[in-house]
Amino acid sequence: MSGNETRSYYSKHLDIGNEILYLSEQDCKNTGITVQEIIDATEKAMVAYSKKEVEMPAKIGVHPQPDSLMHAMPAYLPNEYACGIKWGANFPTNRDRYPGITPTNAQIIYNDVESGLPLAIMDATWITEVRTPATALVGIKYGANLGAKTFGMIGCGIQGKSNVKMIENILKGLETIYVYDLHESAMDALVKQCQPVVNAKIVKCAGYEEVVASAEVITSALPIAHKPEPPVKDAWVGKGKTLVCLDCHTVYEDSVYKRADKYYLDSVEQHELLIDYGYYPFGLPEATGETGALAAGLVPGRESDDELVVINNVGMAVEDIMCARIIFDRALEKGLGLKLPLWASTGALKQAEPGRR
Ligand SMILES: NC(=O)c1ccc[n+]([C@@H]2O[C@H](COP(=O)([O-])OP(=O)(O)OC[C@H]3O[C@@H](n4cnc5c(N)ncnc54)[C@H](O)[C@@H]3O)[C@@H](O)[C@H]2O)c1
Repeated sequence: MSGNETRSYYSKHLDIGNEILYLSEQDCKNTGITVQEIIDATEKAMVAYSKKEVEMPAKIGVHPQPDSLMHAMPAYLPNEYACGIKWGANFPTNRDRYPGITPTNAQIIYNDVESGLPLAIMDATWITEVRTPATALVGIKYGANLGAKTFGMIGCGIQGKSNVKMIENILKGLETIYVYDLHESAMDALVKQCQPVVNAKIVKCAGYEEVVASAEVITSALPIAHKPEPPVKDAWVGKGKTLVCLDCHTVYEDSVYKRADKYYLDSVEQHELLIDYGYYPFGLPEATGETGALAAGLVPGRESDDELVVINNVGMAVEDIMCARIIFDRALEKGLGLKLPLWASTGALKQAEPGRR
């Protein structure tokens, strides 16, 4: 659909300017968007970002609790006729302070490209849960040995489970998935949720070293530490591994990143801004390129089975807004969600005063 066609389709379903569509997590899921669609949309977004086809400033944030974050993530994707902002939080301490409450939560305000008016407010907790493993899978698709038989997951929380559930979409020949978490109960919950939906056998490990020694491709999703005390020693990381970090430089000794044969960042600009926030006290190695550029073939990828490849994806708004576009369109088509008045006080679209620009 062209931009004009899209706008008139939206206008038929929504009184733009007078109402917005509210989409809960369940509404987003009820659109029927598939895992494969999310992976494809995420790859397209990462490529568009690296080709500079989008507008996406590096995300800024505030940090109300130790090692917590709240990030503001706007993006405009002209080719998708999509724009909006995600407001996403990760508070690792929620687990202890508010049992049963998720550490990660996020919402998207999805806007009209023509007028800037809001079209929808949608849950983005679930979008984050699935698009983040999709970013890892884009890195793995282009940076790993695709014949890998072993996968490792460090951190068995929301991301751990979601990454394990989605990994066989790209690594189709996996035999064993090694997992590790500080908490035995988190590993047990992962096995219970994920074993029924993956073919490979999931094995709980006794420590980091066992995962790192056993798995060819390893993704990590631990709470991000501003001042990391990396638990994984350089000496444990052998040749040929592909390490995907969804948690910055939290897991591996600094020399691992610096000696990697290939080191990719989803957004160089984003990670450089994180240095200002104090995230990389040991510095960042020079990147081989961005993950989207790797996917687009614009920078060199893995050149031999022996290379150590590290992919550091902190997450980008373009991925969220790309998924939001699909979800919004489908929600309108299926009549999902709740329409809410935008101007509760007047009940009518606020008109610009005559004569005012
Ligand atoms: N890159 C991205 O796009 C992106 C998106 C979402 C979340 N994240 C990050 O992923 C990480 C995990 O998020 P989540 O939603 O899965 O959180 P979560 O709290 O659900 O999971 C974290 C897991 O790590 C375990 N853990 C904590 N400390 C540990 C340690 N020292 N050793 C081993 N295990 C430990 C916890 O027991 C828990 O199971 C966070 O850092 C979050 O910011 C990144």
